[in-house]
Amino acid sequence: MVWQEGRDALWRASSERDVSLHTGKGCADALRERGYEVALVDVDLEVAARLRESRIDVAFIALHGRFGEDGAIQGLLESMGIPYTGSGVLASALGMDKVHSKLLFREHGLKVIEYRVFPSEKAGRVTVGDLPFGLPAVVKPAGEGSSVGVHIVREADSLGEACRDAARYKGDLIVERYLKGMEVQVAVLNGEALGAIEIVPKHEFYDYESKYLPGGSQHFYPARLPETHYRAACDAAEKAHSVLGCSGVTRSDFIVPSDGSPYILEVNTLPGMTATSLVPEIAAGNGISFAELCERLLEGAALKA
Ligand SMILES: Nc1ncnc2c1ncn2[C@@H]1O[C@H](COP(=O)(O)OP(=O)(O)O)[C@@H](O)[C@H]1O
Ligand SMILES: [Mg+2]
Repeated sequence: MVWQEGRDALWRASSERDVSLHTGKGCADALRERGYEVALVDVDLEVAARLRESRIDVAFIALHGRFGEDGAIQGLLESMGIPYTGSGVLASALGMDKVHSKLLFREHGLKVIEYRVFPSEKAGRVTVGDLPFGLPAVVKPAGEGSSVGVHIVREADSLGEACRDAARYKGDLIVERYLKGMEVQVAVLNGEALGAIEIVPKHEFYDYESKYLPGGSQHFYPARLPETHYRAACDAAEKAHSVLGCSGVTRSDFIVPSDGSPYILEVNTLPGMTATSLVPEIAAGNGISFAELCERLLEGAALKA
């Protein structure tokens, strides 16, 4: 069973609905190709009733962003006793919350870029004086994804506007030191790193368009890092996956400056799974086809609470 994201205003509110719809269709096609009977469910406020009626064996979650990736749907499935793919309630919630995940990463010795957290009500009043690391800085909402609400601020004048925009989205406001380096993302499947891919965005950073428009970024797999730095990124991703208690597949985002240390940005507990997304690209680089990847995820479906 594959999920798609909902009709109701609540579900429409998720900024990542379009991405979810793509992922849902891609996975459904792949699983059908493998002989599974797949029902597509466009999730909305009636989801519990639909699940009861559908009598499905397993839920293959193909959602991104709020409600789908943050533990909400996972909690519903736990309550209904329906095994599901990917991470459980707590790991999903932590992965979606950049403030809490950073605390755990730091506690466990992963390198985290220097940052400050501000309540969104203070957004209009954040000044460069509040940032010990100065500019350039990166402003982002704690609880979004897909680069929604992310801004690189180079001039003191634009800090306020960037903060106000980020504050429109879920969670507190995070302002981080801007770190120059190679952008590397690592896929971890069932606890083991599959590999690290390098992203070269066409824009200033890996923003929404770079992520989802064809030709928006260039990818190099494997990432063009010396062996020891490559291994360090893979090890860090395995650790991040385990620290949050993730299951199934995750994709951890890093910036690797010239000294080779992987600085973790976040763990995505439901990474994009269209045929052209990064995790399938990494899997393909290891001889794992898209359909096989979907099947492996399906096989890992379980109740986790
Ligand atoms: N501290 C930083 N320094 C440089 N670039 C950054 C930094 N934080 C984020 N970025 C850029 O913004 C993108 C999105 O940031 P990320 O923290 O991964 O949020 P999202 O959940 O929206 O993907 C990154 O892929 C990277 O291109
Ligand atoms: Mg990211």
